[in-house]
Amino acid sequence: MTYRGVLIGCGFFARNHMHAWQQTEGAEIVAVCDRDRARLDTYCRDFGIAHGFTDAAEMLDTIRPDFADIATTVETHRELVELCLVHGAATICQKPFAETYGDGLAMVTAAKIAGRPLIIHENFRWQKPFQQMHTRLGRGGIGTPRFLRLSFRHGFDIYANQPYLAEVPDLALMDVGLHLFDVARFLLGDVQSVSCATQRLNPRVKGDDSFLAQLVHVSGAVSSVECSFFSKFAEDRFPQTLAQVEGDMGTLELGPGYVLRHHDATGVTETSVEPAVPSWGGRPWHIIQDSVAAFQAHVVQVLAGQADPKPSGADNLRTLALTLAAGQSARTRSTIDMPAFIAGGAVR
Ligand SMILES: NC(=O)c1ccc[n+]([C@@H]2O[C@H](COP(=O)([O-])OP(=O)(O)OC[C@H]3O[C@@H](n4cnc5c(N)ncnc54)[C@H](O)[C@@H]3O)[C@@H](O)[C@H]2O)c1
Repeated sequence: MTYRGVLIGCGFFARNHMHAWQQTEGAEIVAVCDRDRARLDTYCRDFGIAHGFTDAAEMLDTIRPDFADIATTVETHRELVELCLVHGAATICQKPFAETYGDGLAMVTAAKIAGRPLIIHENFRWQKPFQQMHTRLGRGGIGTPRFLRLSFRHGFDIYANQPYLAEVPDLALMDVGLHLFDVARFLLGDVQSVSCATQRLNPRVKGDDSFLAQLVHVSGAVSSVECSFFSKFAEDRFPQTLAQVEGDMGTLELGPGYVLRHHDATGVTETSVEPAVPSWGGRPWHIIQDSVAAFQAHVVQVLAGQADPKPSGADNLRTLALTLAAGQSARTRSTIDMPAFIAGGAVR
């Protein structure tokens, strides 16, 4: 069976979606939509798509797809997610899922009412190194995890491809912070409390482009999560995330160049966890491109009823709440208790 899908938003990042869908078994994009006619025409030409629409509702009415892949920017997500769900499409939404907790909750509720899956395109956890670390933690290879560090620091000009980022408030938290928080929850479980400091380093941007957050997980483990878009290295590390998990029997250490070092009582072993460069991709983006392909292969399993969404809208709402709480913590210079923050509506 091949599931029929549509894509909404023919912009910068959706090119990765389209290339990956073309290689994903069991799914095919049969129509695309962008309200910008020139972008739409370019996608139809580049990806050989016969049906292009400038209006999402018209596309959904005409095509009646099995699934819809939303790759627009965040301010459009709620309206488009709700539209796709009422048309009966299993719905994939790019991150950030929502700008507010209320919008996220409304989308999760809409998915429940429609009885269709809502899957968030949260691809960082699908990066090969994090899948490997998750598997090794599950096998108990380093015992009980107690400490995690995630570090995403670079100086790559992200504003060249995504000029709107220069205007985003809480930039580092809302652009990459929520990816890192999802990875922290994926590896060490849910979070009890967060404290965070943010900085604005690049004078060209309006929002804070750096943060350092400390998470206390429900398990008692702690995470240190850091991000900067204005770090200076001779060899820039974009878009690698460096990581370290320490357990009571060993440590997993992910260094530059995708080398995973596994320390335990027997010594240390080194494994390359670098993904292959896709035929349609290139360095240094291959880590992202490969994760998009892995995520979309997972979506086909969800469509076939063989897997639960990872992450679902409901799960990603908790990551959004954590991200909003980190921003609140930075503004108020206080530690935020997550259950209380969510019970209060996670209002920033
Ligand atoms: N997961 C990742 O690694 C990753 C990386 C980069 C960007 N993103 C996310 O992808 C999303 C898109 O980012 P981008 O940089 O590609 O943005 P973009 O501005 O380049 O593309 C968005 C496109 O959506 C179109 N659009 C907006 N509203 C629409 C509507 N109602 N109907 C039809 N088309 C509409 C716009 O015309 C534009 O062409 C953002 O949420 C961003 O955070 C994710």
